[in-house]
Amino acid sequence: MATHSDLPTNHQKLQDKVALITGGASGIGECTARLFRFHGAKVVIADVQDELGRSVASELGADACYIHCDVTNEDDIRKAVDCAVSKFGKLDIMFNNAGIGGEPVHNIVKTSKQDFERVLSVNLLGPFLGTKHAARVMIPARSGCIITTASVASVIGGAASYPYTCAKHGVVGLTKNASSELGMYGIRVNCISPAALVTPLATKYVGLTGEEFEAAMEEAANLKGIRLKVDDVANAALYLASEDGRFISGHNLVLDGGFSAVNPSFGIFKEE
Ligand SMILES: NC(=O)c1ccc[n+]([C@@H]2O[C@H](COP(=O)([O-])OP(=O)(O)OC[C@H]3O[C@@H](n4cnc5c(N)ncnc54)[C@H](O)[C@@H]3O)[C@@H](O)[C@H]2O)c1
Repeated sequence: MATHSDLPTNHQKLQDKVALITGGASGIGECTARLFRFHGAKVVIADVQDELGRSVASELGADACYIHCDVTNEDDIRKAVDCAVSKFGKLDIMFNNAGIGGEPVHNIVKTSKQDFERVLSVNLLGPFLGTKHAARVMIPARSGCIITTASVASVIGGAASYPYTCAKHGVVGLTKNASSELGMYGIRVNCISPAALVTPLATKYVGLTGEEFEAAMEEAANLKGIRLKVDDVANAALYLASEDGRFISGHNLVLDGGFSAVNPSFGIFKEE
């Protein structure tokens, strides 16, 4: 891969933009932080994994920084947004990406209230607070782009636990409501719904190694011969955040190779 400095400036899709990425220390968030920097954005990484977050930020150079931020804590979110504005002058892109898998329990009777509250807190309250505080600074600027990582579990049942499914469906409602309100200020609000892909969150949830996990996902997938990677999700975020996505708002960009479009129980299509 070419380095940031190798890239001609006119190829940089986020030149002069400032992005805040929650959950930016690992997985999808880390990959997106690298891609956004590659495209010229100044990046604030917000996470609870301080050592990892600091090391990613330091690799990205002076136009990136790390801030400790628990997305369930409104004060932390307020400070992260204010940090982007004070350090880099503004906030153009808010990527509400932090999330947890919670307990891999697929039985409503055995689902604990504690897990339900914890997953809803990180995966839905977090994006709500992120959207709220991003809007606080984007409204006066009359522009901005807010993206949340949802999941294929935002559009179908039976793909994840009750807490996770409820939280991710909630993200779609948050996205639609916020896009409805914030459009008048020129602010776009979208979410991305990936199918399962290898990250620490997913391999821990499923209890498989990366290779085993990908093989199992490929077996269940509709689209064969391609394995979903963190880069695919980062590219979707780049598309929504850049001029390429300038008229897209209120959208749930489902990144699942057609998985949620198919009901395999009919089985009418067969390879000839
Ligand atoms: N990996 C998948 O299969 C998959 C599929 C669909 C959606 N997602 C979603 O993608 C997002 C990113 O997850 P990932 O798969 O890259 O996993 P990951 O574990 O690699 O990254 C998640 C990051 O969120 C951070 N985080 C967790 N709780 C936090 C909190 N309270 N405050 C701030 N940061 C916190 C973690 O420290 C971690 O760095 C999540 O919202 C997840 O639900 C993942």
